[in-house]
Amino acid sequence: MKFKEAFAVYFSPTGNSRKCAVETASTIGRSVREVDMTKASAEFENMEFGINDFVVFSAPVYGGRLYKGFAERLGGLKGNLAKCAVIVTYGNRAYDDALLEFKNILIERGFIPLGFAAIVGRHTYGQIQVDRPDTDDLKMCWEFGKCILEKIDGGFFNVPDVPGNFPYKDGGNGGSFFPSTSDKCRKCGLCARDCPQEAISGDNYDIVDTTKCISCFRCIRGCPFGARVMDTDEYRAFAEMFTKKLSRRCENEIFL
Ligand SMILES: Cc1cc2nc3c(=O)[nH]c(=O)nc-3n(C[C@H](O)[C@H](O)[C@H](O)COP(=O)(O)O)c2cc1C
Ligand code: SF4
Ligand code: SF4
Repeated sequence: MKFKEAFAVYFSPTGNSRKCAVETASTIGRSVREVDMTKASAEFENMEFGINDFVVFSAPVYGGRLYKGFAERLGGLKGNLAKCAVIVTYGNRAYDDALLEFKNILIERGFIPLGFAAIVGRHTYGQIQVDRPDTDDLKMCWEFGKCILEKIDGGFFNVPDVPGNFPYKDGGNGGSFFPSTSDKCRKCGLCARDCPQEAISGDNYDIVDTTKCISCFRCIRGCPFGARVMDTDEYRAFAEMFTKKLSRRCENEIFL
């Protein structure tokens, strides 16, 4: 039976993880309450859930791990035995230890993970699986939610095994491509407001603090005027090589 409400809790700079979380949560709850953890906030420091709650967590894979800043933010949550489903989205390379890391953090925070999914999304860099998550991927998220509800209705509360190794591989950092602003910029300020790292100067949108920027490309995808760009020769060469290397299609995986 559906929950009255399901939470969708995510870190999602370019939106793939959010889409998957909301689709899954809408199968599990009659309504969905979104908790966007893409930007740090004091709100997450003592956020508590309860035994009757259901939470869908979702986040991208960064270098085979969860992004470190998001992993830290999760440390402020208290599960109090809330049931959850866990999704990582990844850009068609691999998810390595990210799902295992997500599982371990959530158990440690008092959640009961009943299912896991690794779903392919458009890679941040290059032109890799640009339409994903597509209709089939979202249908899979929907089926994932349905299987979890059936599991609960059948009284099965086992926590599934997931691939990954501990100690985890090194990863969880940002990249090192720093966007700039073209002359199409209309100075609306959206990129600076939405940057998860507050890395864009509020006085001059072309100035990026490279010690803070994680190369998540949220500002590039989100600019309404196509004015945020990443067009250095170094990036172009990398993107071309990477696009060729990751041209085969990876399929999604579910663990119940
Ligand atoms: C810094 C960084 C590292 C990434 N590392 C990986 C990786 O190890 N494996 C992979 O398949 N995709 C990787 N990606 C791609 C993202 O995981 C993928 O595009 C994800 O769906 C983005 O999620 P979002 O749209 O919710 O932000 C990386 C992206 C960034 C920005
Ligand atoms: S979102 Fe685009 S148009 Fe708006 S300030 Fe940023 S670069 Fe300029
Ligand atoms: S400036 Fe860097 S961290 Fe901020 S949104 Fe753009 S790519 Fe992401």
